[in-house]
Amino acid sequence: MISKNMADRLVSGSLIRKMFEEGNRLKSLYGEDSVFDFSIGNPDLEPPEEVSRALCSLALSPTPGMHGYMSNSGYLSTRTAVADSLSTPGIIVPPEAICMTVGAAGAMNAVLKSVLDPGDEVILLSPFFMEYTNYIENHCGIPVIVPTEPDTFLPDFQGISAAIGPKTKAIVINSPNNPSGVLYSEETLRKLNDLILSVDHLIHVISDEPYRELVYDGKHAPRTMDWIRNLIICYSWSKSLSLPGERIGYAAVNPNHEDFDLLSRAIVLSNRILGSVNAPAMFQKVVEFAIHAKSDISRYETRRNQLYEIVKQAGFSVNRPDGAFYLFVRSPEDDMAFCRKCAEYRLLVVPGSAFRCPGYFRLAFCVSEKTIFQSEKAFREVGKYYGLCTESSDEIITKSSPD
Ligand SMILES: Cc1ncc(COP(=O)(O)O)c(C=O)c1O
Repeated sequence: MISKNMADRLVSGSLIRKMFEEGNRLKSLYGEDSVFDFSIGNPDLEPPEEVSRALCSLALSPTPGMHGYMSNSGYLSTRTAVADSLSTPGIIVPPEAICMTVGAAGAMNAVLKSVLDPGDEVILLSPFFMEYTNYIENHCGIPVIVPTEPDTFLPDFQGISAAIGPKTKAIVINSPNNPSGVLYSEETLRKLNDLILSVDHLIHVISDEPYRELVYDGKHAPRTMDWIRNLIICYSWSKSLSLPGERIGYAAVNPNHEDFDLLSRAIVLSNRILGSVNAPAMFQKVVEFAIHAKSDISRYETRRNQLYEIVKQAGFSVNRPDGAFYLFVRSPEDDMAFCRKCAEYRLLVVPGSAFRCPGYFRLAFCVSEKTIFQSEKAFREVGKYYGLCTESSDEIITKSSPD
């Protein structure tokens, strides 16, 4: 007999998983090329060549013990490389601040285990990555959901302030954001820090940053450590180096964090007792070698531009995202019904409800340019169905396309 908790979770399932299964069904009926799958954030670029070079060199020049256990926080040389990459003249990050983890998901679980007592609350800003509630509940915490500002998806500081109470232990931020693609400015981070520090007890700011490098139009994500004192970064190379299957990331505590010493040690212990023990040995070495490697972000930028134009031309209301690889689009009807309708046109999209933001849908543009190009007709047909655009021969006349 499985636990009631898991039995309930199995029944409710995941909306993304359901789309994935629907996608497989449609692909088996119509063929891979006739289904436009925008449902999953799985990077389709191959990792940069530094990754395969590191793997070859590790395989060809093995060193004794390279497959053995190491310190639960990870190799010192890897943590030093990560710490150096986060340091600035103003903030020197020591290797003790870093714990190598099994992806960003592993980092978040180690961090939440380290800070939560049963019944403690964690503020989430909707829309947010749907696994956050699971991660919080894994450690007997209670998610408290605060919607972001309508349409801009920026933090609503009044809403956050009203949600903070004696049980608030942490707030999770994620910029660039999944699913909205929004990038927080330095000013937004500064305001958040001021608000958090004005509270009479310690609140941790957990910054989930797997999309940190995926920023377009020549912009950069501000360095969160420069702006937020009680900060814990959860990072992974899943998106930036296209390594999601290798499960490699880290948690980094701001050296200025009020609880730096105990907290960094607690995260290492959590990493161990959660069962991962340490992050994968080979890939610690790979990311150490490839610490300055970059994926070709311009490929994602091209896809963003392509898909944004197609969706707008089909009459949908959407903001151009600054980062990550998602468009978050206003749904012309109930988002669940809309996604079912899209599937009839072989377009696979995820309802905003999956991110606790009904009334929108998400498109992942980490798919081939060919898929995006070929999906144009399907978007136009859906737009036409909802009366968002009219079509005369090859020309589309947009009825309503506010930015
Ligand atoms: C916002 C966000 N956080 C965390 C994760 C999990 O990342 P990882 O695969 O590195 O555990 C994802 C994965 O899609 C994500 O979108």
